[in-house]
Amino acid sequence: MKKLLALALALVMILGAASAFADYKVAFSQIGQESDWRTANTDSIKAAIENHEGWELIYDDAQQKQENQIKALRNFITQGVDVILFTGVVSTGWEEVLKEVNDEEIPLLLIDRLPDCIDQIDYVAAFGGDFVEEGRRQVAWAGEYLKSIGRGEEEINVAIMEGTTGASAQVGRTEGNLAALANYPNMKVVAQQSGNFTRAEGQPLMESWLKSIDKIDVLIAQNDDMALGAVDAIKAAGLVPGKDIIIVGCDSVKAAFDAIVAGDMNATIECTPLYGPFVVETIEKLQAGETLSKEVIHPEEGVFDMDGGIDVGGIVSVKAADVIDQRQY
Ligand code: AHR
Repeated sequence: MKKLLALALALVMILGAASAFADYKVAFSQIGQESDWRTANTDSIKAAIENHEGWELIYDDAQQKQENQIKALRNFITQGVDVILFTGVVSTGWEEVLKEVNDEEIPLLLIDRLPDCIDQIDYVAAFGGDFVEEGRRQVAWAGEYLKSIGRGEEEINVAIMEGTTGASAQVGRTEGNLAALANYPNMKVVAQQSGNFTRAEGQPLMESWLKSIDKIDVLIAQNDDMALGAVDAIKAAGLVPGKDIIIVGCDSVKAAFDAIVAGDMNATIECTPLYGPFVVETIEKLQAGETLSKEVIHPEEGVFDMDGGIDVGGIVSVKAADVIDQRQY
């Protein structure tokens, strides 16, 4: 009997210790699920946390609404979570709620779309794409490609399909797009409007541009989903995407690789969504009491297109067909 009691006590202690360890609550406020990129980003982070021993994921999908994200952050505080992962649907309007997070001394990990108030708040680490550089590369790819096919002096009409207005990905890529256009005087912007980073809005936007604008030579779509929506509209209008209209997307999702290989899209600039490994490494360091660098980390990213070999300044494009089998998202 004594032996049985001791065994039961040991079991209770083991289970108690395990559940105390499993008590580390990692909260993640995600924007929504607007694109293939976002789905891959959510999957990468969710899997990394859920598969980590001792961590519990508390996840909130804000359905593209800032007010939902603010509510979620306050709920995380009430629940007493141990760390918060945050990306903001837009770049402004976060100072108050993020200061509330700081007041409760909950470590804040900034990912993807960083808030404008980054210098006014405390955070443990920040990780995201270099949106200005991605936008610059989009236009540089188009400009250099045009030169490579002997159209470098031709007057080229450019349409810029922007992402969600006010999102740091839209603000940064637009800044990069416009800055790079200054290097190509033959390229002139004839349309510039938001397609909200979705295929569903990219399609009708392209359709309306095709009806109202005489000639579009190049489409710069600030993500691949919008580019793919535009491909549908271009085909429906009886034009040939990738030939009549040169299409440069961003993200480098598998569907864009398929479109490039099929000749429907010309290029895509990479923006990696695979944040899981970074999140795990950072939280483990945090748990170990290490001090982390506040410097914003940008992952290394590539440029992919039909034939490869286009130099966009500092990086040369890779032929999509050669690496399509390695795509993880
Ligand atoms: O913030 C990253 C951007 O958001 C991706 O480029 C886009 O596809 C997503 O919706």
